[in-house]
Amino acid sequence: MPSDETKFLLRENQIPTAWFNVVPSMPAPPSPPLHPGTRQPIGPDDLAPLFPMALIAQEVTTDEWVDIPGPVLDAYRLYRPTPLYRARRLERHLGTPARIYYKYEGVSPAGSHKPNTAVPQAYENARAGVKRLTTETGAGQWGSALALACSLFDLDCVVYMVGASYDQKPYRRSMMETWGATVHRSPSDTTEAGRTHVEHQSGSLGIAISEAVEVAAGDSETNYALGSVLNHVCMHQTVIGQEAMRQMEMAGEEPDIVIGCVGGGSNFAGLSFPFVRRRLRGESEARFLAAEPAACPTLTRGVYRYDFGDTSGTTPLLPMYTLGHDFVPPPVHAGGLRYHGDSPLLCGLVRAGLIDAVAYRQNETFEAAVRFARTEGILPAPEPAHAIRAVIAEAESARESGEERVILFGLCGHGHFDMSAYDAYLSGTLEDIEFSEAEMEAALERLPEAPALA
Ligand SMILES: Cc1ncc(COP(=O)(O)O)c(C=O)c1O
Repeated sequence: MPSDETKFLLRENQIPTAWFNVVPSMPAPPSPPLHPGTRQPIGPDDLAPLFPMALIAQEVTTDEWVDIPGPVLDAYRLYRPTPLYRARRLERHLGTPARIYYKYEGVSPAGSHKPNTAVPQAYENARAGVKRLTTETGAGQWGSALALACSLFDLDCVVYMVGASYDQKPYRRSMMETWGATVHRSPSDTTEAGRTHVEHQSGSLGIAISEAVEVAAGDSETNYALGSVLNHVCMHQTVIGQEAMRQMEMAGEEPDIVIGCVGGGSNFAGLSFPFVRRRLRGESEARFLAAEPAACPTLTRGVYRYDFGDTSGTTPLLPMYTLGHDFVPPPVHAGGLRYHGDSPLLCGLVRAGLIDAVAYRQNETFEAAVRFARTEGILPAPEPAHAIRAVIAEAESARESGEERVILFGLCGHGHFDMSAYDAYLSGTLEDIEFSEAEMEAALERLPEAPALA
């Protein structure tokens, strides 16, 4: 029997004490990252100029559970456990027999799921004696999270913010500066990579990554932090799914479908991987659905190949669905979803047929966000609005088939700094931009030579 409550809350002593690593559960182990020069699998030493050994160990571990260090748990206590809600008003508005639940990560100080990995990354770097972290940020959510985490562990923080977002979200920059970070508009003239891409004034995550990596690689006291894509980042986010599993039990429910938005894959991984484990053990029949923008449709339109993580081709080659490393997505408002690739772990599970994907245009996404805000109250960030669009489609299909369906989705951030995007939608000036076949063909031609993937 489902509970009649609306909010499912855990106590502080129920914050998970270990992160879940999906690698040992995967039907096939992911292909290794390759060195950008030799095209041979990279080893821990290749990553040492950018990351501390503790995080490199987490990146390559095949242990299923990794203990969360005490100081990280202490920082998590500032905002975890996060609430799980039943979207009763949205259900009523849709007239659906589906029961809809959402795990809300917008209660963190930075307003999204990103501190779940920023905190352990800052902690491990501080423990290794590093003085400064560099990073890129798209929507500004990741940069804010890292600025917050660096302030908690006394590190300097330098953020390269994608030009389009820097212009759209001045208060994200103020927020990062309040936590003590230095913020550059990317492409900037502070790096070679920025100067090379000066013609792409709107910027992209790929260019901003190149800038941040260049600065970290050139200074022994500076390391780089990535807010998505990598294995250890996805693993840190699994606190979301582990909590959600307990909260769904409190609600007396088991999800039939788990939905989330995908930029680089970390919030989706964090919510879904603990449920994927259950499915792979035959303990659940849940389906998994990843929602992405039609303007940057990595999982739905990309090719499964080795590609660089950044625009300049300096990072290791990762096995992933990609739109081509030098693809510069149009400046859509879901800045956090403008990335040419995705997490290799998530891509491996999509490739294995365990996770499905769907792409939506901006206007239909904001229409869903506004319906959600007018029923549930919370103003979603444009990124999870893609997930809400998919949730509404599922709930409507349940209504048509008269089927009860339990939907769980990740509301990974609030949209309080995204009001210019809401303004554009409400005034009817938001454009629907789609990825063209010609763009895909051009990108394919520029993919690096590398071994084929199974
Ligand atoms: C609120 C929000 N959601 C989602 C994303 C996409 O990242 P990921 O797919 O790693 O969760 C971002 C990235 O910046 C974000 O800020």
